[in-house]
Amino acid sequence: MKSFIVVICCMAFCSFLPLTDGKTFVKENFRFASVQLKNMLVDADKSPNIFPKTIDAKGKMHATNLYDWTTGFFPGSLWLAAESLHDKALENKAIEWTNRLEPLQYFTQHHDLGFMMYCSYGNAYRLTGNKAYRDILIQSAKSLCTRFNKTAGSIKSWNKFVSWHGNKTYDFPVIIDNMMNLELLFFASKQTGDPIYKEIAIKHAETTMKYQIRDDYSSYHVVCYDTLTGKMVGRETAQGYADNSTWSRGQAWGIYGFTMVYRETKDPKYLKTAMGMADWYLNANSLPKDKVPYWDFNMGDTAYHPGKNSHAFQHPQPYRDASAAAITASALFELANYAGAKSKWYQAQAIAILESLASPAYRATEGSDANFLLKHSVGSIAHGVEIDVPLIYADYYFLEALQRYQKILGK
Ligand code: GLY
Repeated sequence: MKSFIVVICCMAFCSFLPLTDGKTFVKENFRFASVQLKNMLVDADKSPNIFPKTIDAKGKMHATNLYDWTTGFFPGSLWLAAESLHDKALENKAIEWTNRLEPLQYFTQHHDLGFMMYCSYGNAYRLTGNKAYRDILIQSAKSLCTRFNKTAGSIKSWNKFVSWHGNKTYDFPVIIDNMMNLELLFFASKQTGDPIYKEIAIKHAETTMKYQIRDDYSSYHVVCYDTLTGKMVGRETAQGYADNSTWSRGQAWGIYGFTMVYRETKDPKYLKTAMGMADWYLNANSLPKDKVPYWDFNMGDTAYHPGKNSHAFQHPQPYRDASAAAITASALFELANYAGAKSKWYQAQAIAILESLASPAYRATEGSDANFLLKHSVGSIAHGVEIDVPLIYADYYFLEALQRYQKILGK
C-alpha cells in the first residue's frame, strides 16, 4: 500500500516537471548516435567499397555502390558525431570513409554531387581546414556545372525521366532535391573567387522558384524543360503520390534549399520562398500532431491520381517519412535565424520535430535496426522500394538538427 502511494505521488509530481532540458536531450541523443555509429562501423568496415544506406527485408544493413546519391551521408554522419562528441576515433573513421569518395570529384552522370561531396568533404574541410579536401570540392563543383544548361536555366538532375503515366520520356528533368546541390557551388565561388559557380546556382534557384513552387508554396517534384526553347514541358512526380500532390521530402528539400540560398545571397525573395514553404508544411491539414509527415501530404486523397505504372496504388498504408521531418527540423533551425518575428516559432517547431524523432516512436533502440538511428522513413513508394525503413540521410539530418539545437543552447 505504502509503495502504491509513493508511485501515485511520484506520478503526480513528475507530471509537473518540464520535459528533459535541451542540453541533456542533445547529449543523450549524441551518446546514442555514438553507440549506433560505432556498431555500424563494425559491419561497414567489413565491406569498405559499399556505403550504408538502409536495411533489407531481413533487417540487415543494405549498402550501395559509390555512385548512389546517398554515399556522402555515412561519412557525413561520422563527421557530425565526431565534432559534437570530440571523439577522435570517430574522426579517424570519418576521414577513412570520406577518402573513399575521392573518385566522385570527376563524376558527371547525375546531379547529386552536392549531397555526396558536400556532406562528406564539406564537413571534412570545415572541421580540418585541410586544403586537399578543398581542392576535391572545387573539382566536384566543376563536374556538377557540366550539367547546367543555359537555355533551360537549370542543372539537369537525371539523364532521363520516364513518366509513371507510361506515355513520355523527358531528357531534361529537374527535381526539387537539386536545390540541395547548390551549396557546393556557393562554396566553390567563395573559395576560388570565380563567380561562375554562384551564378549557376542563382540561375538554377530562380528557375526552380518560378516553375517548381506553386502559388501556395507547395512543390512539384519533377519539372522538365525543352533545351532548344527553354520552355517548361512537364510537371510530374517520380517519388510522390501524384503529379499535383506534394511529396513530403521534396517539400523538405525546398525549405532547406531556399533557406540556404537566402543565407548565401541575402536576396529576400529566397527567404520569402523558404518561409512560405515552411509555413505550408507546418500548417498542412494532413500533418500529424507529432509533425512527422506522411510520405506524401496528399497520399490516398481521391482528388489525386497516381500514374498507372506507379506503385503508389499498392501501398495505401499511411506510412510516415522520418527523413522529411529530420531535414525540415534542421532547415527550420537555420530559417529561425533569418525569420524576424517568426524566429521563435520556427525554433519551437524544430525542437518539437526533434523531440518526436527522438521518442521511442521513431528512434531505434541500441543495437537494433542494423544500427541506424531512426526508423520509419520512405525512400520511394512510387518505385516500391525502401518503405518504412531506416535511411542514412534521415540519420544525417537528425544529427545536423541536433547539432544546430546544441549551438543555440550554448556550451
Ligand atoms: N534525392 C533523392 C531523394 O530524396 O529520395
